[in-house]
Amino acid sequence: MSSSAHPTRRSLLAAAAIAPLIVPEVAAQSGTAAPAGDLSFPKGFRWGTATSAYQVEGATTADGRGPSIWDSFCREPGRIRDGSNGEVSVDHYHRYKEDVALMKALGVSTYRFSIAWPRLFPEGRGAPNPKGLAFYDRLVDELLANGIMPFATLYHWDLPQALQDRGGWESRDTAQAFADYAGFVASKLGDRVSHFFTLNEMRTFIELGYGNGSFAPGLVLPKARLYQARHHAVLGHGLAVQAVRANGRGNIKVGMAENIMTALPAVETLKNIHAAELATREMNAAYLTVMLEGRYTDAYLAAAGADAPRFTADELRTISTPVDFVGINVYAPGAYVEASDAAPGYTAIPLPRSYPHMESRWLTFGPDTLYWAPRQVARLWGVKDIYITENGTSAADQPAADGKVYDIDRVMFLRQYLAQLRRATSEGVPVRGYFVWSLLDNFEWLEGYSIRFGLHYVDYLTLKRTPKLSASFYKKVIARNALV
Ligand code: FCB
Repeated sequence: MSSSAHPTRRSLLAAAAIAPLIVPEVAAQSGTAAPAGDLSFPKGFRWGTATSAYQVEGATTADGRGPSIWDSFCREPGRIRDGSNGEVSVDHYHRYKEDVALMKALGVSTYRFSIAWPRLFPEGRGAPNPKGLAFYDRLVDELLANGIMPFATLYHWDLPQALQDRGGWESRDTAQAFADYAGFVASKLGDRVSHFFTLNEMRTFIELGYGNGSFAPGLVLPKARLYQARHHAVLGHGLAVQAVRANGRGNIKVGMAENIMTALPAVETLKNIHAAELATREMNAAYLTVMLEGRYTDAYLAAAGADAPRFTADELRTISTPVDFVGINVYAPGAYVEASDAAPGYTAIPLPRSYPHMESRWLTFGPDTLYWAPRQVARLWGVKDIYITENGTSAADQPAADGKVYDIDRVMFLRQYLAQLRRATSEGVPVRGYFVWSLLDNFEWLEGYSIRFGLHYVDYLTLKRTPKLSASFYKKVIARNALV
C-alpha cells in the first residue's frame, strides 16, 4: 500500500464508528446462522454465471454496431498477447440459445451479462440502433423462457470509440451520456430485467485504461487528469442509478459491480480485523467508499494534494445515490495487514514471492478474501444486500485423451472460495447471490484467448463448447444449495 492511502486519526475514529459488528452470536439469535456441520447456503440464494459483451459476443460489425475502444486497442500491435481480438470470440451473438441451454443444464437461476453500449448507440449518443437492442430482447426472452433471471451490466469496458474521441472518461459528458444510455436500456428492458449493474470494475478500467495504459484506451495520464477520470466514473455510476430508476418500470434494482480491494487480517485477532477494515476503506476511497459514503476520505484528498479531483457537493450527492445492492468482484487478496499504534492504524505486509497463485500471475490464491470482502462491505457501510458478481479462476485447461477437461485446480479453487463465502453467510453476512466468472472460455482482454476462465471449454477452431469437471461440480453445488 502506498503512503497515499493513509488516513488521519480523526477519519480513523469516524470509520471505526460506521457500522455495528456482525458476530456469529448475533446471527444465531436472529435465526440466520446455519447449524454446525451444515454446508448449505441460505434459502433462495441465487447461483449464476457471468460474461461480458466484448469478451463473448463477437459479431463486432453486425447489425450496425459501432466501434468500441477495445476494437481500436486490439488493432494496436503488441497490445494483446496473442494478437487476437473480439471480432469472433465465441460467437455468443449467434449462439446465445446454445449458451442459455448450457446455463439451464447447470441449473443456474441467474445470468449476469453485459450490454454493448456501441450496439445500442453506435456513436455513444444520439439515435438508438433498434437492431442492436433487438439482440438483447432475444437474449432476455430466451433466458426468461428457460427460467433464468437476467442481471444486466450496463458497462463492461466497451466504450463507444466516438466518445473516447471526445475525451472518454476524462470528460464529464461521458458520465452524462452513460446515464442517458442507461435510462434508455431501462425503458426498453426494464419490464423483464429486474437487476441492473451500472459499471463493471471502475477501478480496473480507469487505473489500467487511463493510469498505466495497459488496457483500452491505453492512456498514461498525469495524476490530476487521472483523478478527474476516476471522479467521472463514479459520477457516471450515480447518474445512471438515477436514470435507471427514472426510466424503468416496476421494481427495478440497481447497484454497481466493483472489484473491491480487500485488506485481510494477517492473523485473525480482533485488532487486526479492525485494522483490515480501516485499510479496506482507504484502499477503496476513490470507488466504493465515495459511492457508499458520499465523500472522499481526508487521506485520499490529502495524498492527492493539488491533483485532487474537482467536484461539487451536488456531485457527491449524486455519486452516493442510494443503491439497492452492492455487487463485488472478488478474486485475490488486496493486502494483508497488521494493526499498528501509529497512524493510520495498520501496516501492510507485501505478498512474498512464494504466495501461491493460479494460472494468471495476478490471481493469488486467497480463499478467505471471499469471507472478508462481503463481511467488510456489510460492516463498513451497513449494506443489506450483497452480490458476488464475479469469482473464478484461470487454469491451464487441456482436453484429455477421452475429450474431457479435468480442471481439478478450478474445482479446488471454487470449493475453497465457496467454503469461505459460506462462512460469511452462516454468520449472517447478507450475500444474496454468487456468479462464477465465467460461463465459458472467452476473450480475456490482454491475454487474448491464451488464458481460460470458463466452466465450459471452447475449442476456438470449431467453437464447440464442452462442460469441464468444474461445471459438474458447480451443478451439484447449485442442486443442493450447499457446498459439495
Ligand atoms: C475481471 C473482469 C472480467 C474478467 C475477469 C477474469 O476483472 O471483470 O471481465 O476478465 O476479471
